[in-house]
Amino acid sequence: MLRAATEAPLGDDVMGEDPTVNALEEFAADLFGKERALFCPTGTMANLAAILSHCHYNKSSEIIIGAKSHINLYEGGGYANIAGVSSKQVVEDENGYMQSGGIRDNYRLDDDDHYAKTTLLCLENTHNMLGGVTLPASYIDQVGNLAHEELGIKVHIDGARLMNSVVKQNISPSDLIAGADSASICLSKALGAPMGSLLVGETEFIRLARRARKRLGGGMRQAGVMASMGMYALTNHVERLAEDHARAERIAAELHNAGFPMPRNGKVDTNILFFALPENSKVTKEELPKLLLDKYNVLIAGGYSKGGGYLGWSHTWM
Ligand SMILES: Cc1ncc(COP(=O)(O)O)c(C=O)c1O
Repeated sequence: MLRAATEAPLGDDVMGEDPTVNALEEFAADLFGKERALFCPTGTMANLAAILSHCHYNKSSEIIIGAKSHINLYEGGGYANIAGVSSKQVVEDENGYMQSGGIRDNYRLDDDDHYAKTTLLCLENTHNMLGGVTLPASYIDQVGNLAHEELGIKVHIDGARLMNSVVKQNISPSDLIAGADSASICLSKALGAPMGSLLVGETEFIRLARRARKRLGGGMRQAGVMASMGMYALTNHVERLAEDHARAERIAAELHNAGFPMPRNGKVDTNILFFALPENSKVTKEELPKLLLDKYNVLIAGGYSKGGGYLGWSHTWM
């Protein structure tokens, strides 16, 4: 990966002239089955640029998002305070699904002065706060159909860990997101690149997202240094995600057998797992990270969530 970075041909990507960024964007558009792609510094910016782009021509838009989604909880409310759109939050079930009824109930037409018009629906695949659960193509197609045919709105997927979903379900990336208009994909999480996210969608969507990225300060100059590492991650690390999933499953099984309370009875789909300390635990939540690191070489990211559950997940390798 380092060699790729040092040998990458560079140019000015703000002018569209960095050959390494251009090559990554072309590769990604093809891989994810969309017309164009855009290299962004972070997943948060890619999601925000997607919202700005989808809502560009619709002032007073409203978006439908999952109550536990990253866009709702952990992106600083950027959709509201930067993109200027309001939101309706639909509670996901434990599989990360928002049911069609919930989506329909929260959809608003442009025919009543009381309401903002619904423009966009956002899904998350895999779903972080629900423990890395995967949304299947059948669900994305079904929701895409509802959004496009019945409601006339767009669908964006926050796919920070989309490749984990792809590997787990043994499906091609383009088939998985065919039902959605756009997706963001992080190169810097389980794929192991130091930074970078891709946004994919149709040509006009990406044109507007590129303008949004610039306004957000995300127009990068010799970005090929980073793009080359993203390309390396996409072409060399995807198959290794299965190793990560197996490791997460093994850790989850051990924790569950040792009596640690876990959601979904310890079932882990990909590379995220949640657990709490047993009530009779002799180890405190403060001591646990050091113990796990010293004894098992397991580094815990995160910490005790407000709900009291212990949070362990992988941003890089598990
Ligand atoms: C589901 C999801 N979306 C988006 C992001 C944001 O990515 P970044 O940290 O690159 O802004 C994260 C980060 O953890 C995430 O888990």
